[in-house]
Amino acid sequence: MAVASFTIAIDGPAAAGKGTISNAVAAHFGFAHLDTGLLYRAVGRRTLEGADPVSAAQTLTAEDLDQGDLRTAEIAQAASKVAVIPEVRAALVDFQRAFARRAGGAVLDGRDIGTVICPRAEVKLFVTASAEVRAERRFLELDAKGHEVTRSQVLADVRERDARDAERSTAPMKPAEDAVILDTSDLSIDAALARAIEVIEPVLP
Ligand code: DC
Repeated sequence: MAVASFTIAIDGPAAAGKGTISNAVAAHFGFAHLDTGLLYRAVGRRTLEGADPVSAAQTLTAEDLDQGDLRTAEIAQAASKVAVIPEVRAALVDFQRAFARRAGGAVLDGRDIGTVICPRAEVKLFVTASAEVRAERRFLELDAKGHEVTRSQVLADVRERDARDAERSTAPMKPAEDAVILDTSDLSIDAALARAIEVIEPVLP
């Protein structure tokens, strides 16, 4: 099915299942997918290497997004810290909006897609789960990758990032007023995906 422009905004906190659901939804409908967290992670990574966060955001290239493993706990925290800076966020807006408008449909996942980047997105989902459930999922993921972490460390990390992302003054993480809330605490991946598809399908052109 070819659609001119159709945007699905998927927001929510870390490890709620946002990434998995976004990937699967994009594959299901044949839409392009942008994980906007990667933009902030790439800026965070360059900052850890000594770069100024605002210039890093302003000069971000496709190669920066390809730089090895951006999905570490250290880079996640750095990403959350640079994401507080209004000039960093401003530098990343045009790229995200252009992606959202591409022909053929787009799924963008992040924290402020439904509220700030694409307030007129055709579908908005806010994917969430309890901090404990999310920390356990993230712990198992990191542990499987061989990272040396403890459950309590991961929970503290999740809580710290939630607080910073939700309490910042520019584009804080929150559900858009017209977002459908999808709590995955007690849902399998398949059940969460089925629910997301149920929300999206009737809205498709
Ligand atoms: O989704 P993620 O865990 O990869 O995101 C990493 C950090 O980037 C997150 O803690 C906050 C920031 N972020 C943001 O502020 N806005 C977005 N749209 C996406 C991510």
